Amino acid sequence: MSDMYNTRMLSPSDEDIAFAADLICKGEVVGMPTETVYGLAADATNPCAVKKIFEAKGRPSDNPLIVHISEKDMLSDIACEIPALALKCAQMFWPGPLTMVLPKKAVIPSVTSGGLDTVGVRLPSDETARHLISKSGKPLAAPSANLSGSPSPTNAKYVLDDMNGRIPAIIDGGECGVGVESTVISFQDDAIRLLRPGYISVEMLHEITENIIIDKGVLEQLALNAKVSSPGMKYKHYSPKAEIYIIKSSFEDFREYVLSDYKQGDAVMIFDGEEIDGDIPIVYYGNTSERQAQRIFSALRECDEIGARRVFARCPETSGVGLAVYNRLLRAAAFRVIEI
Ligand code: TXA
Ligand code: MG
Repeated sequence: MSDMYNTRMLSPSDEDIAFAADLICKGEVVGMPTETVYGLAADATNPCAVKKIFEAKGRPSDNPLIVHISEKDMLSDIACEIPALALKCAQMFWPGPLTMVLPKKAVIPSVTSGGLDTVGVRLPSDETARHLISKSGKPLAAPSANLSGSPSPTNAKYVLDDMNGRIPAIIDGGECGVGVESTVISFQDDAIRLLRPGYISVEMLHEITENIIIDKGVLEQLALNAKVSSPGMKYKHYSPKAEIYIIKSSFEDFREYVLSDYKQGDAVMIFDGEEIDGDIPIVYYGNTSERQAQRIFSALRECDEIGARRVFARCPETSGVGLAVYNRLLRAAAFRVIEI
């Protein structure tokens, strides 16, 4: 299946977006830039088209897709029983990297929602994404454009690495500004439940309500048979081939730990400005939470590019967007955390 298509790289020009929208109307899948990560977009209302997304990614069929809209008015076409809190969130954070899980309307087929009766909806701020949605005239289902289990792609080249031959086209919109996927929330009485942290942080959501529940799946490894609020929580995620270990310590202790146990094939993921002597390969991943969010997925891909087998990673700050960085790194590390 991986050489079914001769994958074309498109630009975000009007002409190329019209071409991509035409592919979508014909039931095909297109690689689409967004402000968070690249997505694999198809008509969310067309079950055959949505099935192609799952096939291209190798994604389990019970993991629902986020549906992308280009205007706030489209929300009531696909979701119902929208609580006042959700309207407030839309007012404050849309367009932007926030996904809201709401009861779905019948136009959204069950393949799109992974068999659930809810749908995750997001209005991206990326101009190209919105242009593609409005040009196709459809809400677009779009998961991150990586092979299932791999780090999410933050540029068009990484999409091509994973999707070459599997989809007909990718729109190259450059590097993604945010770098981690959208914040996913649901609503429960007067509370907001955080299902996946992202750029829209807990601190920012506090402006809407103090009543925020952080789902257990955000920071803990759930049992294989656990009942989850968001199916994505239970799957292996963002993993490079290397084994990642998160080291929670000062930089001094980190350096000592790494150098004392150094083996061929080891590498480190450290913050910009830090240095380690010796010939251990270094992948830098930023020195502010915003920069770490932009860098985390390409840093994980770089670990594979340099052929690392074991990677020791500095533990990021967990406030603001840092919580999203830590959440992704935890999964990439299969929850291996060493505290010194
Ligand atoms: O930033 C993003 O959200 C990117 C870009 C492309 O928009 N998309 C993305 O999609 O990250 P994906 O499929 O890789 O992740 C969607 C997450 C999954 O963990 C899924 O389980 C959860 O959102 N999700 C989607 N619909 C849901 C629903 N109805 N109920 C609970 N969780 C849901
Ligand atoms: Mg994903």
